[in-house]
Amino acid sequence: MRTVNIEEYGEPEVLKIKNIPKPTIRSGDILVRIKATAVTAADSRIRGARFPKGFGFLAKLVFGITKPRIKILGSTYSGIVEQVGKNVSQFHVGDEVCGMTGVQMGTYAEYIRISKYKSIAFKPNGVSHEDAAGLLFGGTAALYFVRDKLGVKKGETVVINGASGAVGTNAIQLAKYYGAKVTGVTSSKNSTLVERLGAEDIIDYAKQDLVSAGKKFDVVLDTVGNISPQAAKTLLTKKGRAGLMVGTLWEGMVARGQVMTGTATEKKEDIEFLLELTEQGKIKVVIDKIYELDDIVAAHRYTDSGSKVGNVIVRM
Ligand SMILES: NC(=O)c1ccc[n+]([C@@H]2O[C@H](COP(=O)([O-])OP(=O)(O)OC[C@H]3O[C@@H](n4cnc5c(N)ncnc54)[C@H](OP(=O)(O)O)[C@@H]3O)[C@@H](O)[C@H]2O)c1
Repeated sequence: MRTVNIEEYGEPEVLKIKNIPKPTIRSGDILVRIKATAVTAADSRIRGARFPKGFGFLAKLVFGITKPRIKILGSTYSGIVEQVGKNVSQFHVGDEVCGMTGVQMGTYAEYIRISKYKSIAFKPNGVSHEDAAGLLFGGTAALYFVRDKLGVKKGETVVINGASGAVGTNAIQLAKYYGAKVTGVTSSKNSTLVERLGAEDIIDYAKQDLVSAGKKFDVVLDTVGNISPQAAKTLLTKKGRAGLMVGTLWEGMVARGQVMTGTATEKKEDIEFLLELTEQGKIKVVIDKIYELDDIVAAHRYTDSGSKVGNVIVRM
């Protein structure tokens, strides 16, 4: 099977197309033929060994100190079950499934062996493989912060910094789903999209600084990493809460009470919920570009720019 391998940290050119044997499955596994995966901000960070300040050493303990321990990047997939181990009853050959692989990664490949089923769901017919692969990374992260950590409620005001990214586009729609009034912080080129996704107000970050704009919000979600815990507090109403998704290690240590950091979870029930909202048209998956596997270097270069809009997909 064709894969994209990584043997050293560095620029996108460290990614190499390889031909390796298809994984063999054991009795409790399934083999999924991947139809689409996504190039995420996390893939780009790991490839370049660019981690939020203070996390470098910890991240390298997980991903490899001098070179990546993981040979194949990619953490979301959508595809078709091709083989089923004899002890597996919940999946059958031909099922359309999608899921996440966490820190084990491995989805830049034509096939993946799945042994644990806590982050896999059946893909509804009404959701394409590209949309499913694009939905999961930003969707689960946005759901974790909007619903679980920050508890966005009906009638609350929410500001989303980085509203046009993979997380931001989902966060706007989820905050709207929970009944909030959303302000999106974005650039002028993406303001129409951000409005179309549900934001009532726009702050163009090139023209106006969110922190000095003098506005207060019930919920602040920062997906960019340029709002300090102190600055976040100044943006909050009395009962307000802020989620700093790209917090430094130090910010994570000092974040208390109203200001939160954290790492999103990848749960089957959340994936199912997000797929249901997508099938119902309540979440629109924003896809910026679709690449073929051979063009993975270009896909990473584009993701590295920090200007992708929603999701970058790789189709197998
Ligand atoms: N804590 C967690 O569990 C968790 C989970 C998932 C992701 N993350 C992190 O969250 C961050 C965002 O992820 P993502 O996938 O959404 O990234 P992304 O898709 O790469 O976000 C790119 C978007 O950010 C916008 N942007 C860049 N600078 C901005 C600024 N100063 N103000 C407002 N918007 C700006 C860009 O819009 P313009 O081109 O218009 O500037 C672009 O559309 C990443 O650092 C990722 O590692 C954390």
